[in-house]
Amino acid sequence: MRERIEKLKAKLAEDLKSTSDLKELENLRVRYLGKKGEITLLMRRMGEVSAEERPLLGKLLNELKKNAERSFVDKRGEFENKHSADRWEKERIDVTLPGRSFSIGGKHPVTLVLEEIEEIFTSMGFKIAEGPDVELDYYNFEALNMPREHPARDMQDSFYINPEVLLRTHTSPVEVRTMEAQAPELPVRIISPGKVYRRDDDVTHSPMFHQVEGLVVDRGITLADLKGTLLLFVREMFGKDREIRLRPSFFPFTEPSAEVDISCIVCNGKGCRVCGGTGWLEILGSGMSHPHVLRVSGYNPEEVTGYAFGMGVERIAMLKYGIEDIRLFYTNDLRMLSQC
Ligand code: FA5
Ligand code: MG
Repeated sequence: MRERIEKLKAKLAEDLKSTSDLKELENLRVRYLGKKGEITLLMRRMGEVSAEERPLLGKLLNELKKNAERSFVDKRGEFENKHSADRWEKERIDVTLPGRSFSIGGKHPVTLVLEEIEEIFTSMGFKIAEGPDVELDYYNFEALNMPREHPARDMQDSFYINPEVLLRTHTSPVEVRTMEAQAPELPVRIISPGKVYRRDDDVTHSPMFHQVEGLVVDRGITLADLKGTLLLFVREMFGKDREIRLRPSFFPFTEPSAEVDISCIVCNGKGCRVCGGTGWLEILGSGMSHPHVLRVSGYNPEEVTGYAFGMGVERIAMLKYGIEDIRLFYTNDLRMLSQC
């Protein structure tokens, strides 16, 4: 019996040494200490031992059992430590690495300028009106005194959905839509920002661009109101020193018509490369509402007058940010966009 105890002790020590993971260890524990384990079975056979031998053998066997139990616990701890050390090695975080920075999106320069224009005009009492991008020929041309075959249509060729429906070429159709909806109530005082489309494509002309229309209709509105309002706008937008110049022009839906220039923001009117030596930069078209437009929209041109203007938003953004190619607005180059 004593021999068996010694042998078991040696065998256990060897087996423990050769286990390599927690699963093997558990199997081994069952083999020695489980219900039918070798140590358990040996203890059951203590009854067969003589009375003289029993105290000593009992003591030895108990020691074996205690030591075995402790060995299993120790070995288990060893494996567990090693496991978490391995994991630590694999999943280590290098706290000296630089952090990852997230870039937060910003507003597009065209949006920034649009919002600024809206802010300036709404603070003067203008309301914002909107119209559809896909527009009827009637609103885009007919009602604006540009019947079919009118030569002024040539400058605004567009994408036609069918002969009656096109992508609008300017925001002026919103003038007619707004008046139709509001007539005969006075005053009409709106701006209308939005996208417009033309068969254009060069450094200062984009096939899709933005305009802001303006329209004021009331009793006794004159060219002086137009000039005063635009001067105020230009000074808010480009600074207190700006001057404006109204240059005679032609639009079928205004009479008289004028293009509005601002004194060059680069040379202050002396003449430079940006203004082509003239000292002036064109920013919009404008004029006094044509009687035809007022009439078809539900107002009596004998009783009321109005003024209207239409500005190119990209053009204003180019002047404000010193951008020389309009296509830069639409090529999504962050190096350019993040400077505005
Ligand atoms: C018009 O579109 C008229 N509807 C403006 C108007 C409104 C006149 C009310 C009278 C009364 P024009 O075609 O000139 O006019 O365009 C107005 C502005 O849009 C131009 O001054 C320019 O700044 C801008 N623009 C015109 N074509 C383009 C284009 N292809 N790309 C970018 N901007 C453009
Ligand atoms: Mg023009």
